[in-house]
Amino acid sequence: MIKKCLFPAAGYGTRFLPATKAIPKEMLPILTKPLIEYGVEEAYEAGCEVMATVTGRGKEAIEKHFDTSYEVEDQIKGSSKEELLADTRNLMQNCTFTYTPQKEMMGLGDAINKGKVLVGDSEPFAVILADDLCINLEGVNVLKQMTALYEKYQCSIVAIMEVPMDKVNKYGVIAGEEIEEGVYRVSSMVEKPEPSEAPTNMAIIGRYILTPDIFELLDNTKPGKGGEIQITDALLEQAKQGKVIAYKFKGKRFDCGSIDGYVEATNYFYENLLKK
Ligand code: G1P
Repeated sequence: MIKKCLFPAAGYGTRFLPATKAIPKEMLPILTKPLIEYGVEEAYEAGCEVMATVTGRGKEAIEKHFDTSYEVEDQIKGSSKEELLADTRNLMQNCTFTYTPQKEMMGLGDAINKGKVLVGDSEPFAVILADDLCINLEGVNVLKQMTALYEKYQCSIVAIMEVPMDKVNKYGVIAGEEIEEGVYRVSSMVEKPEPSEAPTNMAIIGRYILTPDIFELLDNTKPGKGGEIQITDALLEQAKQGKVIAYKFKGKRFDCGSIDGYVEATNYFYENLLKK
């Protein structure tokens, strides 16, 4: 069982300046709920109880969000507005929230490695990148689809989707053999390749299940693309041993790390969820 979910959340979100000058990008809302809360909800529904966040400077609002706000509670007590906090309260009551700083921005692989103190190195864990907002169209959320697959394959899993070839340089890209419909045994993976060098157009999105041997591999991973420690490079070492599965998830993903994706998600949620 996957009980812990790691949220790397140290990045500055410079694409959203000035909004992210004092507010973490993970706290930007889609309608009334901050991005990270959608991720925590997904992890909780998938069976996780420990929500472990790797933070950076200026990210205090994330901690405050999942802590009691006596002023707000006092203000809305007994009013219909209490309902607006119901989902958040539910997560606060049922999950444990832990935090550790990344200290230096050395890439996603480094951020995940810093999370070792929170998730331990004796059990598999999930990773959610909160700016990849995923919704399920068929009842089971993306992380839950992946935890079910973990039961079968017992190895690291990355969620993938096909992207246009001219967009592959924004993603980690995989190649592998399809072993059941939508499930690939990964043979190679490369971080943000140029289209001419990409093995396929199958792009990794921000959902991972990682086995704990990833930490030792990350310790030995040299800076890669962009001079940063890349999780894709550490996963490639697992893939060489046949221990990485790529899964074409069912659902819809919004790239809320980009303004286009963020607006698209906002419109989608407004049209499909709020008005219902
Ligand atoms: C990270 C990963 C990349 C992955 C992407 C998904 O990149 O390094 O492999 O495809 O997340 O969103 P980032 O978007 O943080 O640059």
